[in-house]
Amino acid sequence: MRPDSQETPEGPATASSLPLPDDSAAFRTGTLSLRTLSTRILQESRREKHVEAAVAASGVSHTFGSTQVLFDVEVKVNPGEIVLMTGPSGSGKTTLLTLVGGLRSLQRGSLEVLGRQLAGLDAAQQVEVRRGLGFIFQGHNLFGSLTALQNVRLGLELQGGTRHENDLLARRALEAVGLGGHLGKKPQALSGGQCQRVAVARALAPRPKLVLADEPTAALDADTGLQVVTLLQEMAAEGGTATILVTHDNRILDVADRIINMVDGRLTSDVAVRESLEVCEFLAKVPAFRRYTPGALAEIAEELTLRKLPSGTSVFRQGDPGDEFYVVWKGRVAIVDEAADERLAVLGPGQFFGEMALVSGKPRNASAVVEEDAELLSLNKDEFQRALQREKDFHRQLRETLTLRSL
Ligand SMILES: Nc1ncnc2c1ncn2[C@@H]1O[C@H](COP(=O)(O)OP(=O)(O)OP(=O)(O)O)[C@@H](O)[C@H]1O
Ligand SMILES: [Mg+2]
Repeated sequence: MRPDSQETPEGPATASSLPLPDDSAAFRTGTLSLRTLSTRILQESRREKHVEAAVAASGVSHTFGSTQVLFDVEVKVNPGEIVLMTGPSGSGKTTLLTLVGGLRSLQRGSLEVLGRQLAGLDAAQQVEVRRGLGFIFQGHNLFGSLTALQNVRLGLELQGGTRHENDLLARRALEAVGLGGHLGKKPQALSGGQCQRVAVARALAPRPKLVLADEPTAALDADTGLQVVTLLQEMAAEGGTATILVTHDNRILDVADRIINMVDGRLTSDVAVRESLEVCEFLAKVPAFRRYTPGALAEIAEELTLRKLPSGTSVFRQGDPGDEFYVVWKGRVAIVDEAADERLAVLGPGQFFGEMALVSGKPRNASAVVEEDAELLSLNKDEFQRALQREKDFHRQLRETLTLRSL
């Protein structure tokens, strides 16, 4: 069987015997970039429950003097989401975080934080916004004359609560970051990493609905760094705490729901981590991608588009120009030689099709029709060419696979 292969007879699209509904609308409405997939799913489930975003920024720009450092930033963070922000030094990460935290006045755009619009707030109103947030910034700003416990309790006291309750919460938070044995020590008797952990405990003890963290694990060893992010995960799961975390620490990428990347003051990508991982693991099992490095797979995964197509939809017709390559993610797709009125193959998850027309430049030599509600991952011609260039022996592998298929 050689679906869409050069050996299959080329022929004009006759198609009359096939159940081919007018699929163009379904094709378009079912298109979803993986970059936005998880966000979209989250947003849809939240919309049903009428939960508003923890952070919604739109058209946010910022200028220091005559230098513009943020350009039209658009980002949305939902309750319970952990979003990592990466990017080169000087790209604007801290600036964005300080704007979201009400530590700096918004100059342009719209920024809603926990349901409150920050545009036009005066200084006193900004202080109110800050009270509800957890900040973990570089330079921990602990009070030198207070013990670790007192430093953490101070943050809780601003929110009320009895002394006994606050004491208990402060102890728990310090224990959670591994400082249960250092409650009575003042900052000068603690190491830099321990001070950083006190600052983490102080930010998290009041269980804020939004945590803004700027390199919170930079001064921490691997275990402690993991403790901190585990705490954030627990808060996300239990209390719906949202987190924006600036980091270069690739040890903690796993905790992220999404990774956003800032370059020269612009958000350049927004990757749905779990979906991308799932897709990479899936691609690694697809024969054509078997020998790709994880890095190359991740780049390909980011370019893939997921199309949800109901049963009966025509993916492409014999004689069409070949402009996309497909991998079946879910469901089944029949490959049909319409000229010979013959079903050549039925492809399921992990199988791919549509590659030969892209390689040869000839029109499709068979039609592809969804046989059972399908989800297809696709690469367009340019993306496919880039994937080819990434792996020198991709061509050979492709031919090997095709030969195997024909056996
Ligand atoms: N208070 C300020 N006054 C003038 N320029 C500033 C100020 N704060 C930041 N900048 C400039 O704005 C740009 C973005 O800085 P920002 O601190 O947001 O970068 P960053 O991405 O957090 O970098 P890093 O990874 O090094 O922390 C830089 O060019 C920086 O020099
Ligand atoms: Mg910074």
